[in-house]
Amino acid sequence: MIEIKTDRLILKKPKSKQDILSIVSQIGDWEVVKWLAMVPYPYTYNDCESYLKESNNNELALNIFLDNQLIGGVGLHLHNDNYYELGYWLGKDYWGKGYATESSKYLLEYALGKLDSPKIKSGYFIDNLPSGNVLKKLGFKEIGIEKRYSDSMKKEMDMMKVIL
Ligand SMILES: CC(C)(COP(=O)(O)OP(=O)(O)OC[C@H]1O[C@@H](n2cnc3c(N)ncnc32)[C@H](O)[C@@H]1OP(=O)(O)O)[C@@H](O)C(=O)NCCC(=O)NCCS
Repeated sequence: MIEIKTDRLILKKPKSKQDILSIVSQIGDWEVVKWLAMVPYPYTYNDCESYLKESNNNELALNIFLDNQLIGGVGLHLHNDNYYELGYWLGKDYWGKGYATESSKYLLEYALGKLDSPKIKSGYFIDNLPSGNVLKKLGFKEIGIEKRYSDSMKKEMDMMKVIL
């Protein structure tokens, strides 16, 4: 199992029941989940377990640890269009410290070193200015707005699509 060390963080798979509880409480916060397209609300322990089972064989789907504490998630998921989609989230207590940018930067570096010229995309719901900023800092270019269904909002929302 991979472990990616960044300047301040470690990216790795969650291991313990405590890790799962920590994901559920942090991502289950409406202020976090409302910006994520594929996470239901309310978010349960079972939801988290099934997600972790599904993503178990994707070594690019990782959680973010600060001093051994799980504080978020970052991942690259391969889609049918052959693009890897970058996604990330942080528990609210950890916003505004550059952790999303730092985690994504190191994961992208790892993936670009390992995969053969991967195509990488991402996107953010248009009111999510912090996420737009993260993607800009990572070098993503905006390519247009499209409708994307949000599992938490339970409706289609405008998403800015970006590619690297
Ligand atoms: C989006 C999210 C991951 C950002 O994490 P973070 O670690 O706080 O992000 P960073 O600190 O790396 O960068 C955020 C940038 O947005 C800026 N920013 C913060 N609030 C802002 C606002 N209201 N308007 C514009 N920019 C803002 C920050 O200043 C920072 O840019 P800077 O380094 O140039 O100052 C975090 O807020 C989160 O988990 N949100 C909920 C889930 C989510 O939105 N996930 C992404 C889905 S696309």
